[in-house]
Amino acid sequence: YVVHQGCDHIFFVGFHGAGKSTLARNLGCLFHRDYVDTDRLVERMAGKSVCAVFAEEGAPALRAREAAALRCLAGRKSLLVSCGGGIVEGGESCRLMHAMGTVVYLDGSFEDSLRQIQHPEIRPDFATLEGARRLYRLRRPLYEREADLVLNIRNKTFEQVCSEAG
Ligand code: S3P
Repeated sequence: YVVHQGCDHIFFVGFHGAGKSTLARNLGCLFHRDYVDTDRLVERMAGKSVCAVFAEEGAPALRAREAAALRCLAGRKSLLVSCGGGIVEGGESCRLMHAMGTVVYLDGSFEDSLRQIQHPEIRPDFATLEGARRLYRLRRPLYEREADLVLNIRNKTFEQVCSEAG
């Protein structure tokens, strides 16, 4: 990954609804760094929503599309990147993130995430409470394994999280 050296991006990972996009966007404004969202990149490159990618092509295809989206960030300057909740399931994406910068895990509670799930249709697992909980339990060790830094966001206001992250 020689081409990626010199990048110092920050990748925010965590469960759906943890607040990755909001935090990355706000820190971007604060520190004058560009902000990108892998879901939006995937959508632009695929020409359809992540929801449609997931439904029509399946999870492995979404993982491959996420890795392709990350590859496009090589060579760009100091980005704040909010990542799709499942990105840590992709080995290639994990390698790319570590080669290009720092991985920060927004560690929030399942209940808080649940409150933020406005579109349960984005993944079949989110359709039931048990499905969503199972996915949360499955994902936590993956986020922890990939994290260079864990940001505990439980019982914190958005301002507190921002100032800790900053
Ligand atoms: C997913 C989370 C979504 C999106 C896709 C799959 C997941 O991203 O990438 O629907 O598997 O957890 P957000 O966490 O940004 O909502």
